[in-house]
Amino acid sequence: MSQMNQPITLPSGAVIKNRICKAAMTERLAIKNNASKQLINLYRFWANSGAGLIISGNIMVDKRYKEAAANLVIENDQHLDKLKELTKAATANGTHFWAQISHGGRQSSIFSTFKPVAPSAVQLKKLGLFAKPRALKTEEAEEIIQKYINAAAICKNAGFTGIQIHAAHGYLISQFLSPITNKRSDKYGGDIQGRATFLLEVIDGCKKALGEDYPISVKLNSADFQKGGFDEKDALYVIKELEKRKIDLLEISGGTYDNIAFFNKNNQRESTRAREAYFLDFAKSIREQSAIPLMVTGGFRTAEFCNEVLENKELDMIGFGRPFLVDRTFPQPWLDGHNNQIKDVDYSFNIKQLKDMAEAGFFDYQIHRIAANKELNLSYSPFMAVLRMTKNEMLKGWFKL
Ligand SMILES: Cc1cc2nc3c(=O)[nH]c(=O)nc-3n(C[C@H](O)[C@H](O)[C@H](O)COP(=O)(O)O)c2cc1C
Repeated sequence: MSQMNQPITLPSGAVIKNRICKAAMTERLAIKNNASKQLINLYRFWANSGAGLIISGNIMVDKRYKEAAANLVIENDQHLDKLKELTKAATANGTHFWAQISHGGRQSSIFSTFKPVAPSAVQLKKLGLFAKPRALKTEEAEEIIQKYINAAAICKNAGFTGIQIHAAHGYLISQFLSPITNKRSDKYGGDIQGRATFLLEVIDGCKKALGEDYPISVKLNSADFQKGGFDEKDALYVIKELEKRKIDLLEISGGTYDNIAFFNKNNQRESTRAREAYFLDFAKSIREQSAIPLMVTGGFRTAEFCNEVLENKELDMIGFGRPFLVDRTFPQPWLDGHNNQIKDVDYSFNIKQLKDMAEAGFFDYQIHRIAANKELNLSYSPFMAVLRMTKNEMLKGWFKL
């Protein structure tokens, strides 16, 4: 049996049937903030993919501060029925389905709000897509922590089998963690102890509300990849605090909208190990200092390499994003012992400033095709991808269509 096929028991007692996780990928498929038929269809498909764990895309705790206009939002249990339909579809086959809980903070685009909030008034300058945020008052930060806990409790009620707190990629918690975006002087700012307080209060509150036997994961950056930003030393402090709180799975990623390291640019020419060396090297230093269950997401493309990493006990689970969007059969062939390599789509797009949007739009299009029971279209033009995504964000964000 391959290493990927081995089940794993997490600290909460939850058992995941294998080591493959479909990492969070924002779906942009909610209708008026609620689960749509297509969203449910998408997760039915992924529940049958073979992956042991599937994690939802960003689910927002406040509809005013979304990361994308068609995000799912959980503020109250008004639409519990639809959520239950979603979790029922997504947990077929003994698959675990965890909710990724998030708040956009300064990375809420103008399609969602012209008045974002953030730890400090530090604007994200990218194509004019993000307005200058207002710094949260201490009481407001405390209220948002309650929103995370409230959303987590509703998720448990709705049948999600676990939650993941999104503390990576430059969203609100990641903004609290970084000294570039957190200039506060209250208990949520200052040194890393202060900057981590927001996240740790969210975790403590979730533990209390959900109980010890309910899986809680955290997605954390190894670093922001920005001078003076959240770095590995900071990350190690946070990880030790998370370990004390006995979380079930730490997912390591990296980067923010300023530097989208999680998309792993220019990686086509390097070997998988070289490509992944940064996150894996960091995972190694975590392993030396902590027993926290560990997953890395980003760039894994061959079964052979994944088996090796698991065999060496470098990681407990492996997360995948884009492989699910370039091959509809993934990961079953790997679980069946085949070693086919997943090939990244090499689309050229010459307008440098729009490259990130083209990439996001291209994969968003593939997600929507799966949700509509259509074949993938890997020759889709990146130019069209930018237009399509901008149009959709406008229609859904500004015109609420
Ligand atoms: C279309 C798309 C949407 C994504 N949305 C999210 C998200 O909602 N939350 C998150 O934590 N990561 C998100 N990611 C990042 C992935 O979880 C993952 O970290 C990244 O794709 C790197 O893994 P890969 O090389 O296997 O694709 C997204 C990635 C893609 C391609």
